[in-house]
This record gives sequence, structure tokens and C-alpha cells, in this order.
Amino acid sequence: ASTEQPYRTAYHFQPPKNWMNDPNGPLYYKGIYHLFYQYNPYAAVWGNISWAHSISYDLVNWIHLDHALSPEDPFDINGCWSGSTTILSREKPVILYTGSDTENRQVQNLAVPKNLSDPFLVEWVKSSHNPIMTPVDGIDPQNFRDPTTAWQGPDGLWRVLVGNRMNGHGRALLYRSQDFVSWTRSKDPLHSSTKTDMWECPDFYPVAIDGKYGVDTSSQEKFTKHVLKASFNHHDYYILGNYTPTTDNFSVDTDFMDNGSDLRYDYGQFYASKTFFDSAKKRRILWSWIQESENTTYDIKKGWSGLQSIPRSILLSKTGKQLIQWPVEEIEELRAKNVSYQSKQLKGGSILEVSGITASQADVEISFDLSNIKEAELMDPSWVDPQLICSQKTASFRGSVGPFGILVLASEDLTEQTAIFFRIFRSNGKYVVLMCSDQSRSSLREGPNKASYGAFIDIDPLYEKISLRSLIDHSIVESFGGEGRVCITARVYPKLAIDEQAYLFAFNNGTFDVTISNLNAWNMKKAQIVSATKRRKPH
Ligand code: FRU
Repeated sequence: ASTEQPYRTAYHFQPPKNWMNDPNGPLYYKGIYHLFYQYNPYAAVWGNISWAHSISYDLVNWIHLDHALSPEDPFDINGCWSGSTTILSREKPVILYTGSDTENRQVQNLAVPKNLSDPFLVEWVKSSHNPIMTPVDGIDPQNFRDPTTAWQGPDGLWRVLVGNRMNGHGRALLYRSQDFVSWTRSKDPLHSSTKTDMWECPDFYPVAIDGKYGVDTSSQEKFTKHVLKASFNHHDYYILGNYTPTTDNFSVDTDFMDNGSDLRYDYGQFYASKTFFDSAKKRRILWSWIQESENTTYDIKKGWSGLQSIPRSILLSKTGKQLIQWPVEEIEELRAKNVSYQSKQLKGGSILEVSGITASQADVEISFDLSNIKEAELMDPSWVDPQLICSQKTASFRGSVGPFGILVLASEDLTEQTAIFFRIFRSNGKYVVLMCSDQSRSSLREGPNKASYGAFIDIDPLYEKISLRSLIDHSIVESFGGEGRVCITARVYPKLAIDEQAYLFAFNNGTFDVTISNLNAWNMKKAQIVSATKRRKPH
């Protein structure tokens, strides 16, 4: 970050300039991580969509390479849109992506590496068979996109999902193929919903039951559940269920938008995400596009738009009812100077400055002990929408047990602050824990969207400490509550709290005292993100 560019990040992935949206085809191949992404080479707004390409040895430091795919053929002339990679037998990676063709129809295309012995996979060749899937038999050509990573069934056939809309509703079309070139659509979609709109960027993969490791997409291990994720309504929602590969039946535990069920990867800014299996460390990793929360005019002025989340490893929780996400361990390599506190009482209505680190670029972990939990306020049965409660009861709204948490990217005088906090309620003899990310005072500037985000978190504060980790990076705060049970990502654009002028506090705005059992805050070093582009194509 610099005075002219206070919102550029130090350890979140971003290109040097211009527009970026969805992560595409993340992949681990021959010791190298690949990330492709939707990119406009010419401006900070969406358009001319190409697949930009970067590689890394550690998911922290990155090298930008030449673009893997550019919109220059009849089957993708209006854009090389989102898609995925699949590793075929004998370690052969391929790309499936959506092209917007000469008639603006969405079609699916195949591309393969030009030279498999190049571990960087710099050059990609589009198949002469393209397009390999077209919007026929009543498929709406405007809503037919974003192929998933393919998986292989016990019959040896490859399967892939494509996002689609039918009569205004979302569904995941299922295709099968022997050779990855000629694909047949299954009569029934893998899944559909009458309660949602178009499904963008579907993702479908197994997660181990009671396991510590991720599972390959084609795995037929018994002790797994399957996750179906779809992007709609500005969020990434997922459901869990049992998938039978012999019949391609997916029977869900709870469905999208079912009563009371609202499983999202993240309850803030987080869209069009995608996972991949990292065979080196046996984990499944999630990437996501983090949009700006400012208007386009401002994007053009600053010359760039969009970030990627810190890659997160993803597992099924012990309850089997939700996913758990945690920043990949490699990010901890960037931790530098540390400050820490133990067993520190935070009196009701008090605030504690955490000084000694650069708070604009930090990793913070905090956990709380609640001795006064019985004093929690009664939950009103009408409080069903957590985001609404967070917007009404902001950090400055006094409670009994909570709000307690941290103030990040705060100005010294606290006129600017982003508050990530918890409130505890009592309801029918149980406790309800609400987690909020309150952006209402995040900037003195008028432009940014300052909406609050929130979610209920499945934790029993009688038996467990309430914990929070936040990754703070100039204009982004990624927060993980309850060891990854609830994630909330916010984009914020402070006017005063930039670089060395940013402060970090712990606070308790409840009437009852709480105890910080542990607090650790680290300065984060800057990741090395460099360019190694050779080919320059004339425009
Ligand atoms: C999601 C999305 C995808 C599409 C791509 C185009 O953000 O709209 O559905 O393939 O972006 O850039």
C-alpha cells in the first residue's frame, strides 16, 4: 500500500492492475500451485474476459505468467468465462471453460497444455472439437455456464456439472463422457431448486466424515459426504448430502433455502468460489473472488478491482452438519512481530489497545472466557435474521454479555473502526451466539457500502471458548469465528486508518465483564507477487 494506493493488499492475491473476478481451475501439478482467474487485460471494469494465470510453490508468493486463454476464437470471442481443471490419467491436466460465442451463446470448451513437460503449463491449446457442449434441447443459451472439475465414476465415465437456469430456477446439469471430448447430457440434473435463481459456478466434491484430510474429487471412499455449492443471490451457498456414483443420485440432508438452513461459505463478501484437491498435502482448498464494496467509478480511479480470498482448507465438521474453513497454514510464514496477552480481564464497557504491531497488515487470534454467561439477554423469537440483528445492534449498542470482540482498521480517535464481535443470548434454556462484522463506521468516506454482516454460530459457550481469528490487509478483513465455523469477509476503505495510522483494539461493550483468555497478534510481511510475462499480444 502507498499513499496513492492505500487499499492495495500486502498478502492477498491480486494482479498489478485491472479487473479480476472468479478464481478458475485451481490446480496442484508437479510441485506447483496454479491459479487462473477471470481478468480484463485492458480495464478495471468487467469485459474482454481472459484467463490470467499465476503460479506458486507455497500459496503465498506468486508469479504472474502469460494469459492461458484469450477470447479470440468463434467459440469464445465474447469472453473466456469461468471453468475448472481436471487431472486426467497419466497426470494430464485439462481445462473446461465457458465461452461466449459469436452470437453471445454460452458454450463449453476444452483446452489442453501445449507442452506437458513444462511444469509451469504456460501455453494452452484450445481443442479443435470446440465447442464440446452447446445449448441445445431447450437449454437457455444465456444461462449455461461454469463447468466443474470432472470426476470419474465406477463405470469409468467422466462426469461434470454445468450451471443452468430453467424457468427462473437454478439447477446443475450433469454430463457424462468417455473421452472428455464428446459429452452426453443426463436426462435429470444432478440437483435443482425452485427456491433459487440461476446457479453460477457450481462445485461438487466429497468431504471425509470425521476426517482430518481432504478427498480427491473422483474418490469413491465410503466414509464421505458430498458438498454441492452454488453461487446465487450474491453469496456462495452449499448443501450436504449423499452421492451414489452408480446412479448419480444425490440425496440431500437439507436443501438450499430450506426453513432455517442457510449454509454459506462466508456471510460477507465472497462469491464464485472454487475448490481443488491438493494431493501434496491431502487437503481441499477453497479460493474465492472478493469483490470491491465501492462503486465502479472508484475502481476506475484506482485502476483495479477485485481480490482473491486467502486460500482456505475445508473439512466437514465433527457434527457432520456444516463445513469448517481455515486459512492454509502456509500463510503463517508471513507472521512477523508478535504481541500477546493471557487472562486479561475486559471490564464491561471497556476497550484495550493492542499496540506494537502494524495493525493495517496483521493476523489476530483472540479467545474469550465468559464467567457471566447466565446473565445473557433473552433472545426475542422474532430475531431470526442474523444480518438484520447485526445491523440493528451495531458494536456501539450496549448488551449484557457482548458485544465483545475486536476493532480493526481503526483510527486512533476511533471515529473509524470495523468491529468484529459476538453477542450471547439465552433462548429456551440454551445459548445462542451471534457473530457480526460491523462496517457501519468503517470509513469517513461517503462512497463505500457499509452494510453489516452476521451469522449464528453453532457453539455452546458453556463448554467452549469463543474464538476469533481475523486476517487484516489494508482493505480486507477475513474473519473466522469458532475455529472456522462461521467466516465473514468484509471490504473496508478507511480514510484515516491507513498504513501506520491504523490501530487495533479489543473491546467489550456489554455490561458484564469477559476475560480474554488468549490474544496473539502478528504483523504480516508482504507476500512476493511478481510478473514473468513474455508474450505480449498486440491488441
Ligand atoms: C460469476 C460469473 C460466472 C461467469 C463469469 C464471467 O461471477 O458471472 O457465471 O462465467 O463470472 O466473468
